[in-house]
Amino acid sequence: MTALCVPVVIDDLQTGIILNCRIYSSPRSDDLYFICENATITNDMKRRLKRIVYPDDRVFIPQKYLETLTAAQYRGPIAMPPPLLKETWSPQEQVEKKQPGGLPGMSIPATAKKATKTLEETALQYRTSKYKASAMLDELAANNFKVDEKQTEDIAQMVQQQLEESDVSFVMHNINSMRNVDEYLYTHSLNVAMLNGLMANWLKFDKEKRDELVKVGLLHDIGKLKISPDILNKPGKLTPQEFEEIKKHPFYSFEMLLNSGQKNEAILKGIVQHHEKLNGSGYPCGLNVNQISEYSKITAISDIYDAMVARRVYKDAHSPFEILDSFAKGVYSELDMGYAKLFIDCMIQELKEKNVLLSDGSSAKVKYITKDLLLYPIVASGDRVIETSPDIHIVSLINEEVSLDSIISNK
Ligand SMILES: [Fe+2]
Repeated sequence: MTALCVPVVIDDLQTGIILNCRIYSSPRSDDLYFICENATITNDMKRRLKRIVYPDDRVFIPQKYLETLTAAQYRGPIAMPPPLLKETWSPQEQVEKKQPGGLPGMSIPATAKKATKTLEETALQYRTSKYKASAMLDELAANNFKVDEKQTEDIAQMVQQQLEESDVSFVMHNINSMRNVDEYLYTHSLNVAMLNGLMANWLKFDKEKRDELVKVGLLHDIGKLKISPDILNKPGKLTPQEFEEIKKHPFYSFEMLLNSGQKNEAILKGIVQHHEKLNGSGYPCGLNVNQISEYSKITAISDIYDAMVARRVYKDAHSPFEILDSFAKGVYSELDMGYAKLFIDCMIQELKEKNVLLSDGSSAKVKYITKDLLLYPIVASGDRVIETSPDIHIVSLINEEVSLDSIISNK
């Protein structure tokens, strides 16, 4: 049975006292609890609690144990329990308060849009889009590298329809799970199109800009079709000559589109500049921060995220937490930190409550992610709260199994 809990400011908890009740993360006593009864309050415990509930400063204690608290420790019961995770992490506030000079139009949806598709339906839709993307790329090579505008439009519309009808976390599930080495290019192309579509939504782009950005994601790497698979999939280090060849692919993509009649300058720029770096060290042109287009800066984020989350012949997959952590630490000099911060904030929202595999082989659920420690979220395994660390860390997301065969056979 749920008992009313009262908020207590962490700094007001007296060090050294023993509480004969549990300490909770929210006013609901059937919710996750941080500290068991009869624990002695220590400074270290208070420090850890503050980290968990950041940027708030409160925890909750059952009202019936009020007598264990002094008057100074009690701020009165609250009528409505605040949502657990919203209290803990408010990215919209982060964007608004901590980035006053943030990007125009930048905002994070306060509440998730109601999805009309189930995980299974989203997976099926994703598989259909992937089939179309693979057919398009196969035909490109067979058709003298002429890009079919109608085919591109068709896939771009499918991507946007999927983003409109599905829960973002379902879309992310597909990006994380469904690929193998043979199908890398078209899976990556579709995933970058989807991630670009998500960014366009988070940036509140209008339909025209969202459409352009999705197409940039879909077509950014088509130039790789002109590069030998032996170089693209080489497990070892590339020779300087091989790397020079790889570096031509944005130009090849641009050239293929131009030869196919593409006249949209925003799309062409977005594609040819997607490997340019803000410090001018990128390729093919070594442009600087002011010369690189908005679509390229956004596509660079989607491109790196999807490449890192994939397992390739030459590297293991990285967990989304590792990738977001490296984004936040500025590991990738090509990333525009304004867009990268928005991506991090929105992705954090999607990663909460996800099931993860820990390095000790056990599974857990993500409960708290703090911006200063993206790599080590707080997770819950049963009713045990674990602060992940280098000793016990998240290895990967655990994706729910989707039986596509059963869906198809039921249709
Ligand atoms: Fe690329």
